Amino acid sequence: MFIDSHAHIQLSQFNRDRDATLKRAQEASVSHILVIGFDMKTSLGAVELAEEHTHIYATVGMHPHDAKDLTPDVLKTFRELAAHPKVIALGEMGLDYYRNLSPRPVQKEAFEKQLDLAEEMQMPIVIHNRDAYMDILPILEARQGKIQGVLHCFTGDVELMHRSLDIGFYIGIGGIVTYPNAKDVQAVAQEVPTDKLLIETDCPWLTPQFRRGKRNEPAYVHAVAEKVAELRGTSVETIGETTTKNFQKLFRC
Ligand code: NI
Repeated sequence: MFIDSHAHIQLSQFNRDRDATLKRAQEASVSHILVIGFDMKTSLGAVELAEEHTHIYATVGMHPHDAKDLTPDVLKTFRELAAHPKVIALGEMGLDYYRNLSPRPVQKEAFEKQLDLAEEMQMPIVIHNRDAYMDILPILEARQGKIQGVLHCFTGDVELMHRSLDIGFYIGIGGIVTYPNAKDVQAVAQEVPTDKLLIETDCPWLTPQFRRGKRNEPAYVHAVAEKVAELRGTSVETIGETTTKNFQKLFRC
């Protein structure tokens, strides 16, 4: 059994075949799916799906792209939604210095406010990072021991992995690991301690190699697990078992 720890199946890309998508996931031994919000609309969409399906959990949060939208009202709604029994984490939140769709100081402010909320609610977090480790890691280091979570779709090298592990974070490995030229991610997938590894799809994006160019979906998390198993010289069943255990420990579910 596998858990897709990062999926966006509330998006319109799945409107035509959401039920069929969930069925395919089940047939591919995906036991649970964590649906990730990244703004108000997608957070509400995630909660709605979690209410409809016992095997779906939700997160609520504001992506750095839309950091400017994190008004006091939105933050208040996130605080209320965070108390929902199916909302098991906050995020995705973080910094994105690749696309810079919000100014960096605005991104940082929205990130810190959501970290405050996570501390207050004692909830784990899901981090989005792109080209911003140099700022994200010190921010998390300053809260070491008070905050726990996963660096989703980890694309750093082994050294950055060790710094992330030192602050107690989990490492989320996604479809990129299956790309032939993704040497850093493959090295990380090989070396991350067994008890800190999570697998994910980030669907509809980052489709694994065997379907690259098509829409991604939770069923394809098996391709991530297979590649990680191959890199670590273990069985895909073992990867399924350990990543499921890690998920349940981090998200307390
Ligand atoms: Ni995402």
